[in-house]
Amino acid sequence: MKGIILAGGLGSRLNPLTKITNKHLLPVFDKPMIYYPIRCLVNAGITDIMIVTGGNSAGDFLRLLENGRDFDLKDLNYTYQKGEGGIAEALDLTEHFADDEPICVILGDNIIEKNINQAVEDFKAQGGGAKILLKQVEDPERFGVANLVDGKITSIEEKPKNPKSDLAVTGIYMYDNTVFDIIKTLKPSERGELEITDVNNAYIERGTMTWNKLDGWWTDAGTFESLMHAGNLVAKTGANNI
Ligand code: G1P
Repeated sequence: MKGIILAGGLGSRLNPLTKITNKHLLPVFDKPMIYYPIRCLVNAGITDIMIVTGGNSAGDFLRLLENGRDFDLKDLNYTYQKGEGGIAEALDLTEHFADDEPICVILGDNIIEKNINQAVEDFKAQGGGAKILLKQVEDPERFGVANLVDGKITSIEEKPKNPKSDLAVTGIYMYDNTVFDIIKTLKPSERGELEITDVNNAYIERGTMTWNKLDGWWTDAGTFESLMHAGNLVAKTGANNI
């Protein structure tokens, strides 16, 4: 299984912090943000990793991470997303790297307390399709929200005004290699991006989407409030079970 970290975008919700610096290089307590998703994948035994970057200071990822020595990796792979085409467009750039293997994708601003090891094992045993990780939150309207009937996901709504559940779709996704065929059928959303929620809904329609509940706290870090919240959580309990 290969790992993909999506760390592009302009991070405009964090202006002027992101005027010069890529969002994923900003500090979250005592480490650059990108360290947390890398550690999440490595802890789950995923060591063949590609980082999709873009926007400001993309070259700084190489200076910071080199070949992944802080994570005992042999090397890291990098690719570059031009413009703001969305999460699914960024993912499409990794097709050659995935090379027909299943992938675990994590958004570079998602930070978790514990680990995803059980979900990764469950996905491997499932033998195809997709898996997402859900987390109960107080502000579901900020996220993709899962609608469940009898424990099965029936649809995901992206940032709904009136969420039907409080289960947020976290930015950790597992896909078989048909994900790249799905991405090629997508049309840009109202915000002009290829949406990861449309990818997930395609798997739901096929009946091959499963989900696990994420243990421990989870946060994104793409707004001033969530960035500060992430730093406070890491300071208090540590992240990624370390
Ligand atoms: C993205 C996804 C959303 C998901 C969130 C998790 O939103 O579109 O479905 O819940 O990541 O962090 P974004 O915050 O990039 O707009």
